[in-house]
Amino acid sequence: MLRDGPVVQSPYGAAPGKKPGLRACLTLMLGAGILCATAFGAPASGSKSTGAQAKEAAPGDFIGTEACAGCHEEVAKKFSSNPHTKIAEMHGKAGITCEGCHGPGRAHVEGGGDVTKIFDPAKASPKDVDKTCLGCHAGAHPNFDRSPHAKANVGCISCHSIHGSKEDALLKAPQPTLCFQCHSDTKSAFNMPFHHKVNEGLIQCSDCHDPHGTFGANNVKTTADQNAVCTKCHTETRGPFVYEHAAVKAEGCVGCHTPHGSQNARLLNMPNVNQLCNQCHNPVAQGSVHGVSAGSNSFQPCVDCHVSIHGSNMNAAFLR
Ligand code: HEC
Ligand code: HEC
Ligand code: HEC
Ligand code: HEC
Ligand code: HEC
Ligand code: HEC
Ligand code: HEC
Ligand code: HEC
Ligand code: HEC
Ligand code: HEC
Repeated sequence: MLRDGPVVQSPYGAAPGKKPGLRACLTLMLGAGILCATAFGAPASGSKSTGAQAKEAAPGDFIGTEACAGCHEEVAKKFSSNPHTKIAEMHGKAGITCEGCHGPGRAHVEGGGDVTKIFDPAKASPKDVDKTCLGCHAGAHPNFDRSPHAKANVGCISCHSIHGSKEDALLKAPQPTLCFQCHSDTKSAFNMPFHHKVNEGLIQCSDCHDPHGTFGANNVKTTADQNAVCTKCHTETRGPFVYEHAAVKAEGCVGCHTPHGSQNARLLNMPNVNQLCNQCHNPVAQGSVHGVSAGSNSFQPCVDCHVSIHGSNMNAAFLR
């Protein structure tokens, strides 16, 4: 049984030649097929072909989307609102939308729906599926192969569903539900007294992480400035400042803050601010500056006086 509904009688039997109009149409599609075979059938970077597209697909092996719709009526109907209909507009309206992912379909069709002659991503290895998708999407997601996800065999269709999605970006489930399905260990952090409001929908996992891989550790989005992922939103901490706090530049924001959630106010890594500062400044804080003259004691929070802790344009000790 077809999961998507009954297979209707195909107009494309063994001899389409009996219908002249149809032949013209098929020829047109085959012409298109040539373009498509070069555009999509042969994946980028001269690598070996993918899945069913292996074995050097010849242009004539493509049969065109109309043919698929003949039997997979439900799938084809639902597909009309899929962003992938745009494949048809690529490369001079080539029109082999389905076969862009499923590979050349002529043998499958002529075999009356022979399932051994078509690439079914649901049954293929993640690597083969990813390769097919990256044939078109490698430009936007060049780091996928070295991402922790790819390395753990979490492929494109672990998170995306081409035919079954009702979410943005063809996701299988909205964020953060999708991510928590596998990362349940991170869930508790977002329930802590202080947390980034991911569950509340104010910010998303993908604001800080690129699930498709990055150059940084932990899939954290990075640029030349290691703090850029945070300063995109917290612009006031970005600088550059006349007087930089070396800790911010050297350790990054996570040197003092826990990004997901924390028991401590301001998402600080430690319950006591002074303890946090004294990790690095103990000798200084014990020294003369903070003796009686400066009026400091170990109970008064350092940030009562050092208010511009991320850097200052006015005071070398971040007092203003
Ligand atoms: C002659 C009718 C017919 C046509 C035309 C046809 N299919 Fe199929 N297709 C079938 C049948 C029958 C099955 C098996 C259904 C099942 O077992 O659930 C099938 C199964 C599939 C599957 C799943 C394979 C699997 O492993 O279960 C895919 C993917 C598929 N077709 C894609 C296509 C594409 C793409 C086209 C157009 C190039 C196409 N089909 C054209 C009849 C057809
Ligand atoms: C962007 C890639 C892509 C395109 C384009 C595409 N498919 Fe699929 N198709 C998939 C993937 C991936 C699966 C595996 C199930 C899933 O993830 O939804 C699949 C599964 C199927 C199946 C198996 C039954 C099922 O629902 O699981 C059929 C049949 C099918 N596709 C037919 C088609 C037809 C017909 C078209 C053109 C109208 C088409 N596909 C276009 C990627 C694609
Ligand atoms: C033949 C080229 C091609 C292949 C193969 C392909 N895609 Fe696409 N994909 C496209 C095009 C074209 C768009 C539409 C881009 C646009 O809207 O600008 C698209 C859009 C998308 C989107 C964005 C949807 C949105 O709502 O913005 C996702 C997600 C996606 N593809 C995932 C996949 C996955 C997963 C696969 C493999 C199963 C795949 N694609 C295979 C060409 C392709
Ligand atoms: C771990 C889950 C996950 C995996 C694996 C994954 N994606 Fe995505 N993808 C997402 C999420 C979440 C979004 C929406 C947020 C965003 O844009 O990053 C998205 C968005 C997209 C988009 C649309 C926006 C954009 O950035 O272009 C495309 C296209 C896409 N993914 C393609 C792919 C392809 C191709 C693969 C496999 C090579 C893949 N994805 C693997 C989770 C995933
Ligand atoms: C299908 C399961 C699955 C889904 C869904 C999934 N992940 Fe993952 N993720 C993994 C696996 C497996 C790894 C690699 C092993 C590990 O480090 O836990 C991983 C690794 C990661 C890492 C790197 C962890 C590290 O220690 O380097 C981050 C960050 C991440 N995922 C974020 C996300 C986000 C954000 C989403 C949702 C958009 C998501 N994941 C969806 C399974 C998944
Ligand atoms: C505010 C930015 C931000 C948001 C939002 C965010 N993360 Fe993270 N995440 C990070 C940073 C930064 C790290 C690296 C932590 C470090 O270096 O100590 C990280 C680390 C991780 C790790 C690996 C280490 C660990 O804690 O297990 C996983 C997995 C992860 N995040 C998943 C998620 C998921 C799932 C979501 C959404 C529910 C999410 N993150 C939301 C910034 C964020
Ligand atoms: C997409 C935007 C966004 C990104 C990216 C982001 N944040 Fe936030 N952050 C927020 C918002 C919004 C709040 C306030 C949430 C609230 O009202 O609880 C917040 C709150 C905070 C707070 C607590 C502020 C307070 O007054 O209690 C700290 C600390 C913080 N973020 C640090 C970080 C760090 C570190 C990173 C990078 C790992 C980061 N943020 C990335 C949006 C973001
Ligand atoms: C040297 C430790 C340290 C580093 C590094 C650090 N912060 Fe902070 N941050 C603090 C302390 C301490 C507070 C609490 C200040 C207070 O309570 O008055 C704070 C407060 C915040 C707040 C709350 C609003 C505010 O300004 O009081 C945000 C947002 C924030 N930090 C974001 C960041 C970002 C983004 C980075 C990286 C660019 C970063 N922090 C790096 C120590 C640090
Ligand atoms: C990860 C280590 C680290 C942490 C944590 C840290 N700092 Fe710093 N801080 C430094 C370094 C390194 C310098 C630069 C020292 C230098 O130039 O001699 C510095 C410079 C300073 C200066 C300016 C010193 C001067 O000579 O002008 C002040 C004031 C300061 N830190 C206060 C704090 C306070 C308050 C905290 C806690 C909120 C804190 N720091 C947390 C590493 C750290
Ligand atoms: C009552 C206000 C106050 C408190 C509380 C305070 N400081 Fe200071 N701090 C100062 C003043 C004033 C200076 C001297 C600035 C100058 O010389 O221009 C200073 C200077 C510094 C310097 C530069 C020292 C040097 O020798 O160059 C560091 C580092 C520093 N403080 C760290 C800390 C740390 C860590 C804490 C918390 C344990 C702390 N301060 C608490 C007021 C305070």
